[in-house]
Amino acid sequence: MNIQKFLTKKIKKICTKYNIPKSFDPIIRKNIKKNEIDYQVNGIIKLKNKIPSSSYQLAVNIANDLIKSNVYEKISVPQQGFINITLQSDWLCKYINKMYNKKNFNIFTKNPQTIIIDYSSPNIAKDMHVGHLRSTILGDVTARLMEFLGHTVIRQNHIGDWGIQFGIVITQLQQMSHISLEKIEKIYKQANLRYQTDPRFVKKTETNVVNLQKKNKDCLKIWNLLVKHTIQKNNLIYKKLNISLTNQDIRGESFYNFMLSEIITDLKKKKIAVNHKGSIIVYLNQFKNRLGKKMGVVIQKKDGAFLYVTTDIACIKYRCNVLKANRIIYYIDNRQKQHIQQVWEIAKLAQYIPNNILLEHHTFGMILGKNNKPFKTRHGKTIKLIDLLNKGINKAKKIIIKKHPNMNNYEINSIAQNIGIGAIKYFDLSKNRISNYVFNWDQMLSLNGNTAPYIQYAYTRIHSVINNADLSFNTKIYSIKIFSKFERQLILTILQFEEIVFYLEKYGTPHLMCKYLYDLAGQFSKFYENCSIIFAKEKHIKVSRIKLSILTAKIIKKGLYLLGIKTVKKM
Ligand code: ARG
Repeated sequence: MNIQKFLTKKIKKICTKYNIPKSFDPIIRKNIKKNEIDYQVNGIIKLKNKIPSSSYQLAVNIANDLIKSNVYEKISVPQQGFINITLQSDWLCKYINKMYNKKNFNIFTKNPQTIIIDYSSPNIAKDMHVGHLRSTILGDVTARLMEFLGHTVIRQNHIGDWGIQFGIVITQLQQMSHISLEKIEKIYKQANLRYQTDPRFVKKTETNVVNLQKKNKDCLKIWNLLVKHTIQKNNLIYKKLNISLTNQDIRGESFYNFMLSEIITDLKKKKIAVNHKGSIIVYLNQFKNRLGKKMGVVIQKKDGAFLYVTTDIACIKYRCNVLKANRIIYYIDNRQKQHIQQVWEIAKLAQYIPNNILLEHHTFGMILGKNNKPFKTRHGKTIKLIDLLNKGINKAKKIIIKKHPNMNNYEINSIAQNIGIGAIKYFDLSKNRISNYVFNWDQMLSLNGNTAPYIQYAYTRIHSVINNADLSFNTKIYSIKIFSKFERQLILTILQFEEIVFYLEKYGTPHLMCKYLYDLAGQFSKFYENCSIIFAKEKHIKVSRIKLSILTAKIIKKGLYLLGIKTVKKM
């Protein structure tokens, strides 16, 4: 039950009786203060100038209307435009039992869509670095969440496998007698240096880009080796990071090559693109260049080479026409904001995408070091993602060995993997994605506070409660009921899961899921400390409380699953 949505609907319906515009959205939040109020309605005061009576009177009228149904225990109107709501315990129990008994906690979308999620998308011939962490894990959370809600999710790893960087590497490799892919990073760096300093190298590179795009055999051979090698390496990272991307999700830039010439011709025909001194350019009204004139976006260079933007135009066309996307969410660096907006604009002008398509760029901030500058190694170098992950796992290992000196290696490694990776992911996801954050090992591995280890530990504790329960009788006849204010609070929090999930569906804000899980774990602790669970004397109380514990554990597990984090049985 999404209580927030339920109340919004009810109040909006009542509002129509008082001629309040349909666009009015009351602000409805679960109350976090300890008093007896479950939900608070706010925002009615904003209607002050639009209604004949006072906003206080309107709030009173709404409250009087609401109370007629048997959902509410108590409703009060303490101030202008404020309504305090206490829900009936029986009503809460009805929905908590539904949540306990039904598949997926009875949570699903009523409007299933085809949603494409463009995430991770590293470039070939380069190791994934710390900068890829956010685009990879944020995108993965959205993919998992949309799937959980019943949408058709198409993951797309738009790897950079087609641009100038290939020309550069291919040119360098052509000049070497022996190709060693192990050293590809080094080769790439050397090649880049030559590209910046040697005009002959630049010429050859440009020819190679065109040749590759024309599917020249020699170029393709080197290209294939490079792509395979990088994908293999990246897959190790995805596996370690528990990312749900597979090779089937790879649709790199190269995939759209077959569409590019046709798109250029079509854009010229539609008079969207023009030939300017041999280059094909689209001039866009909305974007101005430094001189304040319409910005020109080059979609084909003089030598015939296509660009990153051309591929993305083809890509969005393909996603709409062939994959039938209703919504596309891009997890790409903020610095590519203008790039993607230009792609969307050109695709709209050319009518490659339907009018009602939802296009979103979910931006994210940077990861900073302790000095508040971009996170680098001590020597100022880019941090490789694999090194960062291994460091996290090793740190977790040390903590576990200290706690369990006699644990066997296999168990240590498996737990350390889940704790170390969980800590890194959760720390990132618990920050609002649009802000930068400072990377801090001690904080993320701490057992206190809003961290993965804290939540994972809470899960193991609930598990041991459940495992120690003696339930050698028919438990089916007993349902979850409310016997104290502690379980009432816990039930309210569990019911809030649906609200959080739908908020994430709309806005892609995993930090709210983290905050929620932290709150839920805290509510469970209070319940555990104040109520007898397995030692409850009466059977019906015992079963109700154990079922509530099971449901809490399931929600924590699912919440962590949606964040791409595994639980552990022992810590
Ligand atoms: N490969 C690009 C990069 O590393 C990101 C691609 C993002 N997706 C897209 N459709 N352009 O910067």
